[in-house]
Amino acid sequence: MTTFTKIQDNETPVISVNAGARLSKINPNIYSGFTEHMGRCIYGGIYDPGNTLSDDNGFRKDVLEALKELDIPVVRYPGGNFVATYHWLDGVGPKDQRPARPELAWLGTETNEFGTDEFLKWCEVLGTEPYFCLNFGTGTLDEAMAWVEYCNGTGNTYYANLRRKNGRQEPYNVKYWALGNETYGPWQVEQTTKEAYAHKAYQWAKALKLLDPSLILVLCGETGTTSWDYYTLKECLKPTRATLNSNPTPLIDMHSIHMYTASPNHLPNATAPLAAERAIEIASSLIDLARIENGISPDEPRPTLCFDEWNVWDPIRAEGRFGAEETYTLSDALAVGVFLNVFVRKSRDLGMACIAQSVNVISPLMTTKEGIVKQTTWWPLLLFSKYMRGWTIAAHVACGSYEGETSPAWLRSTKDTPWLDVSAVLGDDGYVNIVVVNVHEIQSFKSKLEGVDSSVQVFTVTGSDVTVTNMKGKEEVSLQESKWDGNGEYEFPKHSLTLLRWKARLENRLVW
Ligand code: AHR
Repeated sequence: MTTFTKIQDNETPVISVNAGARLSKINPNIYSGFTEHMGRCIYGGIYDPGNTLSDDNGFRKDVLEALKELDIPVVRYPGGNFVATYHWLDGVGPKDQRPARPELAWLGTETNEFGTDEFLKWCEVLGTEPYFCLNFGTGTLDEAMAWVEYCNGTGNTYYANLRRKNGRQEPYNVKYWALGNETYGPWQVEQTTKEAYAHKAYQWAKALKLLDPSLILVLCGETGTTSWDYYTLKECLKPTRATLNSNPTPLIDMHSIHMYTASPNHLPNATAPLAAERAIEIASSLIDLARIENGISPDEPRPTLCFDEWNVWDPIRAEGRFGAEETYTLSDALAVGVFLNVFVRKSRDLGMACIAQSVNVISPLMTTKEGIVKQTTWWPLLLFSKYMRGWTIAAHVACGSYEGETSPAWLRSTKDTPWLDVSAVLGDDGYVNIVVVNVHEIQSFKSKLEGVDSSVQVFTVTGSDVTVTNMKGKEEVSLQESKWDGNGEYEFPKHSLTLLRWKARLENRLVW
């Protein structure tokens, strides 16, 4: 958590960090990814057989190498909107017998050349855990249960044997499963009502947990701020005693929310992800409200939030059916930094967050036939994944704030939008790491830092102005490393993201 006091723009900002005040553990899964059968994410992104850059599986080695740097704990698959007409059986078995199908989310053709076994193999090579999303559009419960059995079954049963026949003896143990994707959306095949969805999700969850009680099931929420979120939580978070007497495990483990932000103007763009902070707060309250109203015992684990699609995206500017290849600017990189600050600050409530998406489609990583390009947004993601782990610690910021219009408009009356957006962690290695995003376009801030114990390693992400990109043949935004002795004031450059890192002297303070 970071608290805030507004002061005048001409006063010296103060950032206080208390390494002893540990607030909540950060779930590493907040640095998760997402790969959808959409545009060039799978085909031509992670999978490119025949390219000299690919391995024997057809996996792009340069993409794997880059994604390994991000140390991604979980990757969601295969959609997204794509999943609403996806039949997983089309994508297993001999490749030459797999059917090509019309694809209705992005209006292409799905060859099914890449499917369940290929994705799970790719996850093993990358060193990440899979997270599957079930087809709540044209799919059936039988099909969903068969998919779980195919992936996780250990007995002498049909789909477990089909997996063995297809070359995989051991179960994959796929733990995370989403109960549909954005089923509320008019863009969705088989869009549904909250009433119909809640009924179906609860019934599917019951069957899936009977089949495999170790699954972690994710309810399809909306943005965290809607009556859909309230209703589905209220209907689906029920005391377990009412359901599975032989398996007293909660049916719903997580509630998903999605948010894409974007504005053509820099300050609304860079501050927009603060809406995600309010959304997390509201959705967390809705979880508590449902549990209170339904009389759920405090002994039953409280579901966490699964922010399984987030990013900067303007779907008009970068249309889905044309592959949604956003060109990210420095402004967008700062927005991504603010998103990630939000996730660190809200670590108590977040069980997972997946950037949408991991390759080519609204992504920090782009491929060509010849190699890869790291977009501006790559750098904040890399820094956070590397250093912003461990515990969220208490921080306080006193600085001026942006007072203009926000995107979404409701953000203006619900959150402060300070010039300096801050999160702080104490890593398991005993280092304090803080990220300061200075969203101001023209003003640097010389700031006092309280709580700095030793000399400081500094990482800075910035560029010559907020509109520069890395997509015009030159890396305009990258990572600069430097050192600071920790004395006096530190100047946060205009339109920059700074990570400061120092060894905590915990012996000098009370540790909570
Ligand atoms: O990530 C792109 C799309 O955005 C996803 O398919 C969908 O879930 C969301 O609308």
